[in-house]
Amino acid sequence: MSTTTFQGLEVFYTRQQIAERVAEMGAQITRDLNGEKLVMVGVLKGAAFFLADLSRAIQADATFDFVATSSYGKGQRTSGAVRLIKDLDETIEGKNVLLIEDILDTGLTLSYLRKLFLQQRPKSLRIATLLDKPSRRLEKIEADYVGFSIPKIFVIGYGMDYAERYRNLPDICLMTAEHPE
Ligand code: IMP
Ligand code: MG
Repeated sequence: MSTTTFQGLEVFYTRQQIAERVAEMGAQITRDLNGEKLVMVGVLKGAAFFLADLSRAIQADATFDFVATSSYGKGQRTSGAVRLIKDLDETIEGKNVLLIEDILDTGLTLSYLRKLFLQQRPKSLRIATLLDKPSRRLEKIEADYVGFSIPKIFVIGYGMDYAERYRNLPDICLMTAEHPE
């Protein structure tokens, strides 16, 4: 695909492709829920748009909560250590929980959150990620719902950042070496 935005970034998934896939994921999650209630937990900040769109594609009696983590380090580098910056507002004990993330990369973040959440004994805990980079995995973890599986590339837009920028791009774009700033 050779579509470019006004900033000269290459588009990897268009907003239409994202919307279609998110609608499919929402329908699947709705079916799997079987009419039960759901707590959707978004991982700030990257999953904000995905949660906003996915939640509207899920037909359920639902509430939202958010957590935030940090992986010590800026840009494309991560040191491996995950820490919690913002905890859940409400307990998830006995609840059906859907943990919503933008990208499952090394798996460090979601492994950490899964372990933390399971301590509260939710009724069920499932993971939805918009993007998955299985070839980058360091921790053994898979999502229950995956939007798109992608190779080892760095993407930005639709919530995802490079050093906190580009989150507001409506499409998912490639972060190219020629475009570091
Ligand atoms: P993990 O802990 O390595 O699985 O990392 C997950 C987090 O790394 C995601 O929530 C993103 O914030 C960030 N991340 C990983 N790959 C990318 C990327 O290609 N673009 C932007 N952020 C990324
Ligand atoms: Mg993130």
